[in-house]
Amino acid sequence: MRALHVPAAGEQPQISDIPTPEPTEGTVLVRVKAAGLNPIDNAVAAGFLTQMGLPHEYPVVIGRDAAGVVEAVGAGVDHVAVGDEVLGHVLLAPPISAGTLAEYALLPAVTVTPKPAGLDFTKAAAIPLAGAAAVQSIDAIDPQPGQTVLVNGASGGVGSFAVQLLAARGVTVVATGTAADNERLTALGASRVIDHTAGPVAEQVRAAYPDGVDALVSLHGMDPSGTPIAAVRAGGKVAGVAAVPDEATLAAAGLTGTSVMATPLREVVGPLAERAAAGELRVSVAGVLPLEQAPEGLGRLATGGAGGKLVVTLQD
Ligand SMILES: NC(=O)c1ccc[n+]([C@@H]2O[C@H](COP(=O)([O-])OP(=O)(O)OC[C@H]3O[C@@H](n4cnc5c(N)ncnc54)[C@H](OP(=O)(O)O)[C@@H]3O)[C@@H](O)[C@H]2O)c1
Repeated sequence: MRALHVPAAGEQPQISDIPTPEPTEGTVLVRVKAAGLNPIDNAVAAGFLTQMGLPHEYPVVIGRDAAGVVEAVGAGVDHVAVGDEVLGHVLLAPPISAGTLAEYALLPAVTVTPKPAGLDFTKAAAIPLAGAAAVQSIDAIDPQPGQTVLVNGASGGVGSFAVQLLAARGVTVVATGTAADNERLTALGASRVIDHTAGPVAEQVRAAYPDGVDALVSLHGMDPSGTPIAAVRAGGKVAGVAAVPDEATLAAAGLTGTSVMATPLREVVGPLAERAAAGELRVSVAGVLPLEQAPEGLGRLATGGAGGKLVVTLQD
């Protein structure tokens, strides 16, 4: 099968033929129609996870999210069958090996959920990791209706879901983005868009909300000291899948919070797919690319400005 993969440790990713995986117990082999890109794909491609000590089995296929048609199921899988249209995710579990930027992908059955008929493959493939990250980050701050929440990194894949999910809970959403993101974020439910290129986010938020916001969802940056916690009122909460300061730093600011690791299990992703199919959740697909251009898509994700999800589609 054609796949974007790292052939061996330290090598550059390439697109070429590798063996099609065989289904094993608890897995589903999917003929991939579309695969959503995520920042983690660049980390895997660059070998960052080897530096973290995670065992790899080569070739390592890049990509974690997929939508497609079930080709085969392994033992113990009875919630989907051959021919079903599904979406799913390759969990970041050792050994790092399977991926979705390929004609076929081997997905853990716990992540595979039926694709609603009203949702196309491209949008379905954009949901799992970003959608789960948004749901689980929001659950961690448990915002109440009427509260105000800052989403830092709102313009990205996770943020585009987070803004909508917060607004649907009756929360006032303050979203970060550039002028180019303003209209889209407002349409997704943001009450105010803070331009993160116009000055420190926390200062801009405090200018608009002198008492501070009730919580922060952190979806941008690796450096906890760059997280705009000064925007949050004493007693507020901070959570997210990007940098979150440690407990002591948060406590010193009168805050509580937690760092979130997204887990796109089917119980989390299935309801999001249903909401998207029903038109209750918009999937912000910013670009669709063929497999041959997946490396360019990953480059675009790394340099910024994608403005939502990038999805790779595969020919029959
Ligand atoms: N731990 C987990 O389980 C998990 C899961 C999913 C994602 N993540 C992480 O969460 C982050 C968000 O993921 P994603 O898929 O949404 O990535 P993404 O699509 O690249 O979104 C990141 C967004 O941050 C914006 N941004 C850039 N500089 C900023 C600044 N100074 N202040 C505020 N926003 C800024 C970017 O805007 P421009 O494009 O205009 O630069 C982009 O829209 C990434 O770091 C990703 O690795 C972690």
